[in-house]
Amino acid sequence: MTVLIDSIAELREQLAQAAAEAAMNGDAGSIALVPTMGALHDGHLALVERAQELADIVVVSLFVNPLQFGRGEDLDQYPRTLDDDLRVLRDAGVPFLFAPSAAAMYPRGGSETRVTAGGVANTFEGRSRPGHFDGVLTVVTKLLNIVQPDVVLFGQKDAQQAFLVGRMIENLDLPVRQEVVETVRDDDGLALSSRNRFLSADERRAARVIPTILEAAESSADRGVDAVVAAAQSVAMGERLVELDYFAVVDPDTFAAVPDDHRGPAQVLIAARVGTTRLIDNGRVLIG
Ligand code: PAJ
Repeated sequence: MTVLIDSIAELREQLAQAAAEAAMNGDAGSIALVPTMGALHDGHLALVERAQELADIVVVSLFVNPLQFGRGEDLDQYPRTLDDDLRVLRDAGVPFLFAPSAAAMYPRGGSETRVTAGGVANTFEGRSRPGHFDGVLTVVTKLLNIVQPDVVLFGQKDAQQAFLVGRMIENLDLPVRQEVVETVRDDDGLALSSRNRFLSADERRAARVIPTILEAAESSADRGVDAVVAAAQSVAMGERLVELDYFAVVDPDTFAAVPDDHRGPAQVLIAARVGTTRLIDNGRVLIG
């Protein structure tokens, strides 16, 4: 049974009760939080499964956070499938789904106070989506304060988001551990995303080029950064339905673009438009 909760006070009450029950059974009553915007797929479920391994009580949150959507972005079109999501979480044995309304999260209509990410928030996804990461960090901070979990889970699929949340936890000494879960992919390699449902059949076929770009980047990594970028661009040019927004090679420790003579581990980032749908992905490479 998954309890659907839409109020902050009610969630706090239920969690206190669950913790008391856990204590009676001799469990630590540890809590894991999986923040989502819903339209759940197997990528989200991988986070849930890892959460179940790590903690006694799993809370999934579902909130399409207006603060992280810019003007003209897909806030209104973002898929909302609460009934399906609830069913998926029931099948997975998740006890709590916290799905507050915008009014419950932002009773004043917004939030005067925001968590501001550093310079990394203005690059890559942040450059294409100004203010996006401040919105993400602000809502994640609220969710952490509401749920007070021991561990919070994020997907590697959104590498910059996972990096910035990790930095926030470290910078602000938030009392929570972050766990990052590997990207879950479809059989043909395309990373699962709530936005994949917007792709037409032709676009879905074309989107396969995104993981192919990552594979090309990986297989040319031993020839240096320039070779990685060239390989990625040449594969991307072969698919006219896909328009590269950016392709970048970054240092995993700083998320800054690496210099041309970089050697060692790096992350490759990709954002592309397939029709009107914008998709992101990333992979690890060893530049040698
Ligand atoms: P959402 O896009 O719903 O993603 C929720 C979590 O699932 C994120 O941590 C994301 O990285 C992870 N995820 C998505 N697709 C994945 C995949 N294919 N494999 C593994 N993990 C995947 O990201 C957000 O929501 C929001 O920004 C949020 C953090 C909830 C704040 O509003």
